[in-house]
Amino acid sequence: MSVEGIVKADTADRLVNGSAAGESGNGRLLEIRDLDVSFELARGAARALRGIDLDLHAAEIHGLVGESGSGKTVTSTCIMGLLPVPPARINRGRILYRGTDLLELSEPDRRRTRGREISIVFQEPAKYLNPSLKIGEQITEMLGLHMGMERNRAMERAGELLELVGLPNSRRILSGYPHELSGGMKQRMMIAMAISCDPSMLIADEPTTALDVTLQLQILNLILKLREQFSMGVLFISHDLAVVHEVSDRVSVIYAGKIVESAARDRLFNEPLHPYTQLLLLSIPDAQKRGQRLKTIPGRVPDAEHTPAGCAFHPRCPLAEDICAREIPPTTEHAAGHTAACHMIGKKWISS
Ligand SMILES: Nc1ncnc2c1ncn2[C@@H]1O[C@H](COP(=O)(O)OP(=O)(O)OP(=O)(O)O)[C@@H](O)[C@H]1O
Ligand SMILES: [Mg+2]
Repeated sequence: MSVEGIVKADTADRLVNGSAAGESGNGRLLEIRDLDVSFELARGAARALRGIDLDLHAAEIHGLVGESGSGKTVTSTCIMGLLPVPPARINRGRILYRGTDLLELSEPDRRRTRGREISIVFQEPAKYLNPSLKIGEQITEMLGLHMGMERNRAMERAGELLELVGLPNSRRILSGYPHELSGGMKQRMMIAMAISCDPSMLIADEPTTALDVTLQLQILNLILKLREQFSMGVLFISHDLAVVHEVSDRVSVIYAGKIVESAARDRLFNEPLHPYTQLLLLSIPDAQKRGQRLKTIPGRVPDAEHTPAGCAFHPRCPLAEDICAREIPPTTEHAAGHTAACHMIGKKWISS
C-alpha cells in the first residue's frame, strides 16, 4: 500500500469509527520484526540493533526501557526514517505500520508519514525548535504542509493545540519565540507540534528526562490524557523504570540492541524472568517511587562495537554459565504475551 493508501484508509476509519482505529488485521499498529542496524565506522562496524521485535497496538502505551547506549534512540529514529544512512546501515528486518513496510517506502512517502501518521517527541525540545521562528509559524507550517490548512485556520488550530497541552495564553505564546518558554513549556509545545496533525502513533523518546519531578509528572499525565482522548498508540522510551511503570500497558526491556524481555506491565514487574530485568527492578528500592533511575548493576552496557559473544549480558550476569558466553539465547514465549531471551530461565531466581 502506498502512503496515500495508508492516509486514506486512516481517514476513512476515523470517519466511520470516530477514532484512530485502522490498525492492521491482527490488531497491531506497528510490528517491528528482526530489525538489525549497524553503523559502518572507519574502525569497524558497530552493531546497534541485533534483531529487534516489537509490537504496538492502537491506543496502547508500550514502554521501551534500557540503560544508556542500549539502542532506544536508534530504534526510534529508524521508525521515523531519520537514521543517518550512511553511516547507519539497515542489515535486515521490517517495520510494518498498518501492514505496510516503512523501510520500503520512498523518501517522499516517508516524509508524508512523519508527523501525519507517526510523530516523535525528543528529550531536548530546544534542539529541535527553530530559535528564530515564532512559535505560531512553527506549528502552522506543519498544519499547512500535512493538512493543507490555510493560515488563519492553522493559527486558530495552533491556539487550540497549545490550550490542549496545558499552555494557556496561547495568543501570546504563538507570537513569541522558543527561548521565551521554560523547559516544561518547550516540551509541551513539542508535544503540541507532534500531535498537531492527528497522528495515530507517537514516539516519546525520553520526553521527561530533562525535567524536574513535578514537570515530569505533568508531562506523563498529559501523555496519558492524549492517549485517552485520541486513542494514539505510544512508544514510550525511557531509562527510568519507575516512569515507564507509571504510564505503560506493556513493557519491553532492551539490552545491547536486543529485546531481552517483554510482557504486560504488571506481569513484567511482578514476575520478571530475565536476570537483567530482575536486577533492574532490584536496583530500584520502590518501583512505584518516582524519579528513580536505573543504576547500580555492576558494569555497563557494552558499546555497539564490542558486543560480547553469546548472551550480551553474560559478563554482568550473576547466573551466567558456559553456554551464555557461547550461544545467543533464543527469544521464547513463557506465558501468553510474555517473552524472554535467556538460557537460565527457570533454573534459578535472584532473591531480593
Ligand atoms: N551515529 C552513530 N554512529 C555510531 N554509533 C552510533 C551512532 N548512533 C548511535 N550509535 C551507537 O549505537 C548504540 C545505541 O545508541 P542509542 O543512541 O540508540 O542509545 P540509547 O539507548 O538511546 O541511549 P541513551 O539512553 O543514552 O539515549 C550505542 O552503542 C551508540 O554508541
Ligand atoms: Mg537515546
